[in-house]
Amino acid sequence: MGRDVIVACDFSSKEEVFAFLDKFSGKKPFVKIGMELYYAEGPSIVKEIKARGHKIFLDLKLHDIPNTVKKSMAVLSNLDVDITNLHASGTKRMMEAALEGLTRPDGTRPLLIAVTQLTSTDQESMENDLLIKEPIDKVVMHYAKNAADAGLDGVVCSPLEAEKVHNTCGKDFLTITPGVRFADGDIGDQKRVMTPEQAKLIGSDYIVVGRPITAAADPVAAYERCLREFVG
Ligand code: C5P
Repeated sequence: MGRDVIVACDFSSKEEVFAFLDKFSGKKPFVKIGMELYYAEGPSIVKEIKARGHKIFLDLKLHDIPNTVKKSMAVLSNLDVDITNLHASGTKRMMEAALEGLTRPDGTRPLLIAVTQLTSTDQESMENDLLIKEPIDKVVMHYAKNAADAGLDGVVCSPLEAEKVHNTCGKDFLTITPGVRFADGDIGDQKRVMTPEQAKLIGSDYIVVGRPITAAADPVAAYERCLREFVG
């Protein structure tokens, strides 16, 4: 899979997501299904979107004891998604167990990506709530390195961190970056943003774009603009 735009389908019902995807007629954007839609509709929503011909990033961010994560990943692997994820803070042992669970009997598996520190966690909350006293950049890179050591395929990170992640973990280690906005668009609640073009220059492998596409007057045109700017 090469560089691509992943559309965050942050809807809470099947009807909404299908009404949105129907606008794309022949086109089949790579779709991110998050907790909201998955918990509302269950695994059948994954199968239905897959059956329509979309690639799927199932963003459920697993974090539990290694055995539970391993068994849950085996279930997700049967849904035949293209990418799924977990929290790197679950430890290397949890990540290794996840990979084992995700790997099918024929050796194939979806890509497995780690969340390092959530972008909603800042230095202050990390120090006070989690008692982690190191600089957040160092923590993010350490978690990325752990994920790479455990055999994972990449991390979700801010576009501003993508270059450093590649330098630390190798250029083939994937960076999936949210927080993307058009130069003339609304930032909304995202704090550190980049345009699709800047994300391309800095070496993001995938950008995750939600509202700039889902809330656009013409979502298909916004998606195509993203593709033009990011993929070229
Ligand atoms: O609408 P917007 O483009 O901000 O959506 C970004 C998507 O990426 C959302 O689904 C959001 O949950 C997700 N995300 C994020 N920041 C992270 C991890 C995931 O914005 N650090």
